[in-house]
Amino acid sequence: MQIDPSQPIGVFDSGIGGLTVVRALMERLPFEHIVYFGDTARVPYGVKSVETIAHYTTQIAQFLLEKNVKTLIIACNTMAAVAAQTVRDMSPVPVLDVIEAGAWAAAQASPGGRIGVIGTPTTVNSNAYARAIHAQQREARIYSQACPLFVPLVEEGWLDHEVTRLTAEEYLRPVMAEHVDTLVLGCTHYPLIKPLLRQVVGEDVRLVDSAEAMANLTAALLAERSLLNPGSTPSRYEYYVTDVPVKFQTIGERFLGRSLNPVHVVKWQDK
Ligand code: DGL
Repeated sequence: MQIDPSQPIGVFDSGIGGLTVVRALMERLPFEHIVYFGDTARVPYGVKSVETIAHYTTQIAQFLLEKNVKTLIIACNTMAAVAAQTVRDMSPVPVLDVIEAGAWAAAQASPGGRIGVIGTPTTVNSNAYARAIHAQQREARIYSQACPLFVPLVEEGWLDHEVTRLTAEEYLRPVMAEHVDTLVLGCTHYPLIKPLLRQVVGEDVRLVDSAEAMANLTAALLAERSLLNPGSTPSRYEYYVTDVPVKFQTIGERFLGRSLNPVHVVKWQDK
């Protein structure tokens, strides 16, 4: 299949959390056009079954392929954990996912191979990070912890709040007791509480931000396949969502770090 470098990158997530990945991509690859899809009507995915997530993921990947994207980026850790292979099997264009990116960055970052992973319950139960890290570093020891309260706390905007700090201390206690040297932020929402997590884990633990790792991996893939946009026109960004919930704009702009438009609402029969 002939891919034109000026085609957009397709990025998708269960909601607006994947905008942390878009933000990292905009910074790393400022000449790329991006089409984003966030399933805001059906978020959160992190507590749903594997079958349901796989079904939704297929639907979204198909939508973006019809937008003629040159590559698909699975920004949602939960989707990547359970449905990355499904997307690869159906896609004629390259597929990258946030777990392969995060795992690679963790294996590079960890001096002693003692790696903590935090994410949604579905991501943690899937063991996808552990498999992906072991593929890079066989001897690594992985300590995972589901942190289901972080997503609502971040959406509430409690990024530097006592409740979030206490919650983080509670979740991270067992992981820190294993003397991890690296902690993977395995969820779209966690980059926003990175400063707070830094205070909780201290200066000696390396934090792997999977959004940044994703942007680096995308840049490497596009360069290797000669798919970088030559950059003669200003970048175009487009956002598709399945619902516009209360506070959508405020929360979205917090994730993206800039104004969020144009936003198109997609209505699907099959919910
Ligand atoms: N985007 C999800 C993730 O990265 C978090 C939100 C959700 O549970 O859908 O795991």
